[in-house]
Amino acid sequence: MNFPYKNTTIKIAAHVYEPSEDSFLLAEAALTQIKGTEQILEVGCGSGIISKVIKENTKARVTGVDINPYAVKCTKESGVEAIRGDLLSCLKGKFDMIIFNPPYLPTRKEERIKDWLGVALDGGYDGRRIIYRFLEDCNAHLADNGRILMVLSSLTGIEEVKSRMGSLGYAVEDTMEERFIFEQLKVITARKKYL
Ligand SMILES: C[S@@+](CC[C@H](N)C(=O)[O-])C[C@H]1O[C@@H](n2cnc3c(N)ncnc32)[C@H](O)[C@@H]1O
Repeated sequence: MNFPYKNTTIKIAAHVYEPSEDSFLLAEAALTQIKGTEQILEVGCGSGIISKVIKENTKARVTGVDINPYAVKCTKESGVEAIRGDLLSCLKGKFDMIIFNPPYLPTRKEERIKDWLGVALDGGYDGRRIIYRFLEDCNAHLADNGRILMVLSSLTGIEEVKSRMGSLGYAVEDTMEERFIFEQLKVITARKKYL
């Protein structure tokens, strides 16, 4: 399926997350935050829509990573460099910005779907399982003055995630938000604090 967005078109393959409001909000926020030739990493790149929009509208260098092999193939076919891996475990080097639209939906055991859509959506019982794993590894991959840009849902517990970031030594600010009937989406930026 071809998916037009902004000044580009993305081909969405089977078994790959179809871009949604969270993808669009994060892409908008990323475009307002990126400066010059920064090195950007998108974790959980999915179809590659956010990375491709960054590539086509900024001078940044962008790499995607996803655990889903269909997503990696789809992103590469959009002309963006992509690697298969679990969060940041396969990566070396540091980035000026790490972007993530994570699986953030609280999911009970009996609700779990054992397919790639489940992997894209399932944030564990509180919605924060993958997010907390991701945050543990981020510091080692952020350049000086590096930051994390992440979209969250009110269903996930935004304050809880911010509090975890604070305890890991980040200064967090709200960057962009959008309200819907059943949830609020918010993009937050987290910067390493130097004491
Ligand atoms: C909500 S989708 C977002 C996709 C795309 N970035 C977008 O915004 O349209 C979450 C993505 O994270 C990926 N993902 C989930 N767990 C992961 C992990 N442990 N390591 C890498 N990617 C993961 C999923 O395969 C999926 O592509």
